[in-house]
Amino acid sequence: MFPNSLLPNLFMEHINFNTNAFTRQLINWYDPSDRQLPWKEEKNPYLVWLSEVLLQQTRVEQGLSYYLRFKEEFPTIIEMAKASEDRIMKLWEGLGYYSRARNMHHTAKYIAFELGGQFPNTIEEIRRLKGVGPYTAAAIASFAFDLPHAVVDGNVYRVLSRVFGIAVPIDTTKGKKIFFDLAQSLIDPKQPGVYNQAIMDFGATVCQPQKPFCKRCPFSDECQAKKENTISLLPRKSKKIKRRERFFHYLVVRYGEQRLIRKRTGKDIWKNLYEFPYFEVPRMGFNQEIIQQNIFWEKVGLKGKVSIDFVSKPFHQLLTHQKIVAVFWEIDALNTPEIEGTDLLLIDKNDLSNFAFPKIIHRYLG
Ligand code: ADE
Repeated sequence: MFPNSLLPNLFMEHINFNTNAFTRQLINWYDPSDRQLPWKEEKNPYLVWLSEVLLQQTRVEQGLSYYLRFKEEFPTIIEMAKASEDRIMKLWEGLGYYSRARNMHHTAKYIAFELGGQFPNTIEEIRRLKGVGPYTAAAIASFAFDLPHAVVDGNVYRVLSRVFGIAVPIDTTKGKKIFFDLAQSLIDPKQPGVYNQAIMDFGATVCQPQKPFCKRCPFSDECQAKKENTISLLPRKSKKIKRRERFFHYLVVRYGEQRLIRKRTGKDIWKNLYEFPYFEVPRMGFNQEIIQQNIFWEKVGLKGKVSIDFVSKPFHQLLTHQKIVAVFWEIDALNTPEIEGTDLLLIDKNDLSNFAFPKIIHRYLG
């Protein structure tokens, strides 16, 4: 059924469709003015890097406004390097995968202060930057420096698996190598940036995950998946993601107009974002006894006198490997919370918007 799902070293011989023809047809199809995006045809490596880092694991529609805001606030890498981490996190807020923001800031500081603001211009050096994987390195190398490195992202896996009928799972070492080698063999060395942008745009606008527009496809005569009626099965993955469920009880302590928050630290999700103090429990069913315990109140600097006003409905947030369920307890503090020697901050409620919070807290705050 899948003639190309063979061993990698046998693989290329089983491709029916001439790879030069693929490249030619793709570039003929491409019209740069079709899908106008502010980073298209951009040659400034800082801006190419910024756009690609923002777009990792993010839809273009969502990444666009972040790109414009970052570019406006930090027109050069020097300005980004000089920003505080809290400011970077605040601008990143809502985009998820926050380690990307920390890596981006680290790299900005490295380039600004250790490389004198000069962006590296070889694939090896670009690849060594923190937060830059093979995909992002190829994008920067080709868009900013015209180097012949093919991008392999979700769009490329989808287009190539379908057109060439490759059923090797893309989340295996073997699969990654096959797609990487094939992509690299297809790039147009005279215009690598144009080729890379074309295949991404083609995947995003024609060869879409669901309901691709095969009537508008320049490969509809050659497409192996169309011939074999396997479009909806490709690209293939070997594993299903399992998500660990976690249950949080956030304590929203109100002391007049003030609120208690803390910064997340340590090796866990949402590092360096802010939050309300919370308890994590093994299952959601709430045990009243927990309220009797001092530890509950000590967590928020309140020993004793409080009144619980309200417990919210459960809020949910899906992460790549976790599923978070949270409820929010609104608590009026009758005494000043004792925060000395703790990591708690007592801030005016109008200042909450200056801090970066995870999405689940934003949804609760409304
Ligand atoms: N997704 C990631 N990078 C992109 C780019 N340069 N153009 C369109 N979509 C993208």
